[in-house]
This record gives sequence, structure tokens and C-alpha cells, in this order.
Amino acid sequence: MSEDIRWARGQYRGYDVRLPVEPDHELTRVEPGTPCGEYMRRFWTPVAMSSQLGDKPVAIRILAEDLVIFRDGEGRVGLLHKHCAHRRASLEFGRIEKRGIRCCYHGWHFDVDGTILETPGESASSNICRSICQPAYPVREFKGLVFAYMGPPDDVPAFPYLDSFDLPDHELVPYSIHSPCNWLQETENAIDPYHSVFLHGRVNGPQFPGLEHFVELPVVSFHQRDAAIVYSHARRVGDLVMLRFHDYILPNAAQNGGMFQKLEKTKFFGRTSLTKWVVPIDSTNSRKFGWRHFNDKDEVLRQGRREEVGWEKVDFYGQTAHRPYAEMQSNPGDWDVWVSQGPINVHKREYLGRTDEGIAMLRRRLRKDIRAVAKGEKIVQAAGDENNPFPTYGGDTVLKVAKSNDDEALMKGLQKQVAEIYFAADHLKGEARSARIKTDLATAFPDSAE
Ligand code: FES
Ligand SMILES: [Fe+2]
Repeated sequence: MSEDIRWARGQYRGYDVRLPVEPDHELTRVEPGTPCGEYMRRFWTPVAMSSQLGDKPVAIRILAEDLVIFRDGEGRVGLLHKHCAHRRASLEFGRIEKRGIRCCYHGWHFDVDGTILETPGESASSNICRSICQPAYPVREFKGLVFAYMGPPDDVPAFPYLDSFDLPDHELVPYSIHSPCNWLQETENAIDPYHSVFLHGRVNGPQFPGLEHFVELPVVSFHQRDAAIVYSHARRVGDLVMLRFHDYILPNAAQNGGMFQKLEKTKFFGRTSLTKWVVPIDSTNSRKFGWRHFNDKDEVLRQGRREEVGWEKVDFYGQTAHRPYAEMQSNPGDWDVWVSQGPINVHKREYLGRTDEGIAMLRRRLRKDIRAVAKGEKIVQAAGDENNPFPTYGGDTVLKVAKSNDDEALMKGLQKQVAEIYFAADHLKGEARSARIKTDLATAFPDSAE
């Protein structure tokens, strides 16, 4: 280096970090046989939208497995390995039958569970139908999404029936969006409330109507649960404290607070506007499946648009690839940033700070459960049914509370108090649960009564 160019420590150090570093394979690779791939296969997960299932089979890829999905003539959904058990022709070229699907190449006929119904070119005495099958997975169709279980067949978990699937004022509209990157990147966005301050506020200007107060740095509290991480972010606007709760349900589901709402007066136990799963297609592609919850009672700004929710689209800012590059660059949204982290984000090249508490917590929980599955241990999962759904908390409570000298401590206390009121009603269901929570909030915060 010449005498007149002496860079201080920390300046122009690009060369020091030029060499590639391996991603965190344990948390990111989902191919069959990988630790995370085996872990992800322990859960029911959405794999398709019902609207995809027409008169032709559809080739899909989930957890790095090539599959074909179809609805047969009896209305049953089949999810089979894509390659035919005979000589591996793709069943996406097969013919849907009244019962099951027929391979186009030599006419083998498969039921939706993989049973071979017919091998027409073989002799009548052939034993093939009884000795082998077409690999298949069980499915459950629910409110416009098709869920599948791709794990060990002797250990099928309960379906993750959340209480938010049946909220009385909510209409659930399904949607699905592809992201060309590892699943963890998008899902981590759902446990990072601080990005809202900058991406959706200070750096680019407000992106979500009704949530302009996002520009304030929040006070964040995490509430660890058995199968979920619930967190709240609190902000003060005048004498109102906005407490926005989110659910992160392991391994890849999330529910946020309400959208298109006007949070300018008190509110008790508002509910979510969105339930979503980030499903690995393979290690460098993912597909979100979810529902927009349309709730005309709470979404008073009336900016939700049902016609903009569906395949590759949802009705709020910055969620898809389908925007001009110049527009993405001048006002990037969530989709743009998680894809921009690369095909698989390299955690060793990150520098986590205080805003990343949720990210670090999620990675620890995932790693613990991934290792438990690898050791053959049971893991806790969200489970429920129509009569006994899994309680969730995503949504907003707004309290009227005067500012204190230590407002951060005040808000932390409010988060703890409200969360405890929420959790204390877990044993109740439906309207009874909601009514109990609202009554208890009104008792605890009489100045905030709605
Ligand atoms: S490859 Fe499918 S029937 Fe021959
Ligand atoms: Fe966001």
C-alpha cells in the first residue's frame, strides 16, 4: 500500500469477505433425507389450491419431490409421485378417470391412494397390482386449499385446525405466491416486526393504509408457547397504545394483525387478516399458501379487494414478482427483500442485532426440533379439530393509557398483561373465548372499554 493510502480498520474490507461461505444447511435444505426436510415432513402442509384442479393433472414440486395432483371423476383428490411406477413416464400426461388416474404410456391405472387398479398390458394372472403401488400421500382439502402429509405413514399428526379458520365475521379467500428463494427467508419476515418500521415506513414511506404508525420503533415482547411463538409489538399514538399480536406457528405458518383497519380508538381482541404457510418447493424455491381473511366489520377502510386475491396475487402492497423492476426498485416490498437475500441466505454473513431477536429465537426453536426429529423424538405440533381448535392470537388490541415517565416499561407491562388475559381463555372456544377476553380486558382497562 502506498504511503498516502492507509485505510482505517473497517474501511474497504471487501477482499476479507470475498470467499463464499456455506449456508446453514441444517435449517434450509429440504430434500428427502436432510434433517430439515425430514422435520418439515412431520406436518400437514398446503400443497395446492383447489382452483388448480381441473380436468388435467397438475405437476407440482413440494419438499424437492416431483408430484402430480388431480381431482378424479368422483371428486377425490390424489397426490402421487409424478413418475409412473411402471417405467417412470410423467403422470402429468395421464388421463383422469372416474376413479384415479391412468398413465398415458402403457395405461396403468392408479387410485388416489396409489393402489394399482389395472395393468392392462400384463397377463390376467399378473400379480403386479398386489405387489407394488404408485407412491402417494394423504390429502385433506379445506376452504380452497389442499393440504398433504408427506411424512412417515404410521405417524400421521392431527390436522392443525386453528380457531381462526371459523371466525364468524371472516370470509377466507385462498391465495398462493411463488418466491424463488429458500423457505426460511420469507417465513422469517413474519417474525421480524422491526422491518415494518423501515421497509413499510421510514425508508420507503407508508405502504399499508391504516398502519402509518408503523414508522415508530415498537416495543416488542415474545411469548413462547408449546407449538408457536406469539409476539406483540406496541406503539404509542397520543394516549392510545397499539398492541399488535402475531402468531408464528411452527414450522412455517403465521398470522398477522388486522389490515385496512383504522386504529384510532380503543379496540379489544381484533383478529387476523391473514393466515399463511411458506412451503418449500425445494431448497431454493418456496410457495406461500394462505387465506386473506376478509372481515368487513374490522376492515373499515374498505380497501380489501377479493378479486385481487388468488393464484400469484394478494391485495396488499409488494407481495409478488409481478411488478416492473423500476417500481420494485423505487419502492420495494416484502417479496422483493426476501428474494433479494439470495437463493439461500448465508447466515454466517449476517450480523444479527437487537431487531433480530425473533429471527434468532425462531432459528433456535427450529434447530431444536429438527435435531429432535433426527433423534427419533416426538415434537409438539399445533393440533385441533372443528370442536376443539388450536387457539391463536393474531390481531390488534388498542388501549387508552396515559404516557408514563418510563413508557417502554409501561408498554412491556401492558403486553404481558394482555397476553396473560388472552392465554387465560385458551380453554374456551369460539364466541365464548372472544367474549371472555373482551370482558377481562374491559375489567383490567376500564378507561379503554369499547
Ligand atoms: S410408464 Fe406408466 S404405464 Fe408404463
Ligand atoms: Fe412486511
